[in-house]
Amino acid sequence: MISVQIQTAAYLFAGILFILSLGGLSSQESAKRGVLYGMAGMLIAILSTVLGEGVQGYTYIIVAIVIASFIGIIVARKVEMTSMPQLVAILHSFVGLAAVLVGFGSYLDPHTQTLVGTEHTIHLVEVFIGVFIGAITFTGSIIAWGKLDGKIRSKPLVYPGRHVVNIILVIIAVVLGVLFTQATGTEGMIYLYGMTAIASYIGIMLVMAIGGADMPVVVSMLNSYSGWAAAAAGFMLGNDLLIVTGALVGSSGAILSIIMCEAMNRSFLSVIFGGFGATPIAAGDEDIEGEVTATTHEELAELLEEANSIVIVPGYGMAVAKAQYPIHDMVKTLQDQGKKVVFAIHPVAGRLPGHMNVLLAEANVSYDIVLEMDEVNDDLPNVDVVMVIGANDIVNPGAETDKSSPIYGMPVIQVWNARQVIVMKRSMATGYAGVQNPLFFKDNTDMLYGDAKDSIDKINMALKS
Ligand code: TAP
Repeated sequence: MISVQIQTAAYLFAGILFILSLGGLSSQESAKRGVLYGMAGMLIAILSTVLGEGVQGYTYIIVAIVIASFIGIIVARKVEMTSMPQLVAILHSFVGLAAVLVGFGSYLDPHTQTLVGTEHTIHLVEVFIGVFIGAITFTGSIIAWGKLDGKIRSKPLVYPGRHVVNIILVIIAVVLGVLFTQATGTEGMIYLYGMTAIASYIGIMLVMAIGGADMPVVVSMLNSYSGWAAAAAGFMLGNDLLIVTGALVGSSGAILSIIMCEAMNRSFLSVIFGGFGATPIAAGDEDIEGEVTATTHEELAELLEEANSIVIVPGYGMAVAKAQYPIHDMVKTLQDQGKKVVFAIHPVAGRLPGHMNVLLAEANVSYDIVLEMDEVNDDLPNVDVVMVIGANDIVNPGAETDKSSPIYGMPVIQVWNARQVIVMKRSMATGYAGVQNPLFFKDNTDMLYGDAKDSIDKINMALKS
């Protein structure tokens, strides 16, 4: 058993570790350190809470921790990189459910009934808001998990006037909240149940309205909601650390969502209110001039041998083909020949924030040659060869010129400014946004058709022979 003073100091220390953890996660070099800070902070947080005054039932707590840790280790070891969003979504649903259960428990706690006046009202408002956010997070995250896992159809479910219905439901929830704060004893439970049902419905409908491929932004938004749900639980339990941690998760999730929305040229508000992926994707209607020309693996290998500076732009297709490993071998061969090779990473390349960075790190590509879009764009006119590997939308010049394009306004990697561009993909098919790419028709662009991994394997053979 530890004293309140020691517990407060431990909470403060854990809070600092969580902030250091978030700071560490902002760059690849320090990401591992960031994860370790987070683990240490969580260990301190759990121990100092469990050993705190007034905690009973240690047997149950230990059994719960052992079972949960066991499940956590198995799931984390088994999960494929491509299934990460589903896992994150289902974990968010647990936070939401926890906030709902803490709210119910806190309301029924006999101590709550001993509170009077303003203190009582404030506590009831905390409970009501906490359960509201928790229920939206819980059901929204389950729907997100179902959509990402293919268990629920990914087509957006929208109906006319759904925003009006949502607003009416929120108004009813507010009325229930007023009645809840005026109820005596535990009579308010009926209003709490009513509001939980409404919030659960809102959570379902908000995420059902999102188109399947836009789900990663929604997962990041639900991450933010889960943080606020945890902060609300912290208020209900009077636990400062939970409030701080929840606020950190809530705000960092919101910032990540804003960054993703900006990088994808989406409106942040339409994400929060749902249904932003519902508009059918329009094709850009700009006339495309020029002819598509194709090249071969041998010709590309020769081009690379002559080049001094090479930029590689990976995209979703690299992830699908799992081409990062042979790409790493190719980069080593080219570097051994004295060539300058760097990667240019677009903020929304692939389907997850940091998708390309994680895959390249997995293949042991050195961090110092993995650059951000803004670090590369200005230098592209001096680059001999750009290899676009399984990327499409993130190198589409139409994003700068074609006002009718759904990606108009999205910043892109301006590969066409380089001397020669090679686009490696299987066909002329469009990318995620469903728009044709004028880059493929430019004079200095050649297509190299085929699966990205097969192509790189062949180039590696040609480079080595
Ligand atoms: P995309 O525009 O989706 O293009 C990927 C290209 O890869 C496709 O055109 C496809 O063409 C090709 N491809 C697929 N499998 C391949 C394989 N085995 N080998 C070689 N090529 C293959 O991807 P991007 O350029 O990375 O852009 C990402 C898009 O996703 C953006 O529009 C972004 O807004 C969106 N998005 C991103 C995120 C995040 S957070 N990253 C979240 C949601 C949506 P073929 O079929 O012809 O091979």
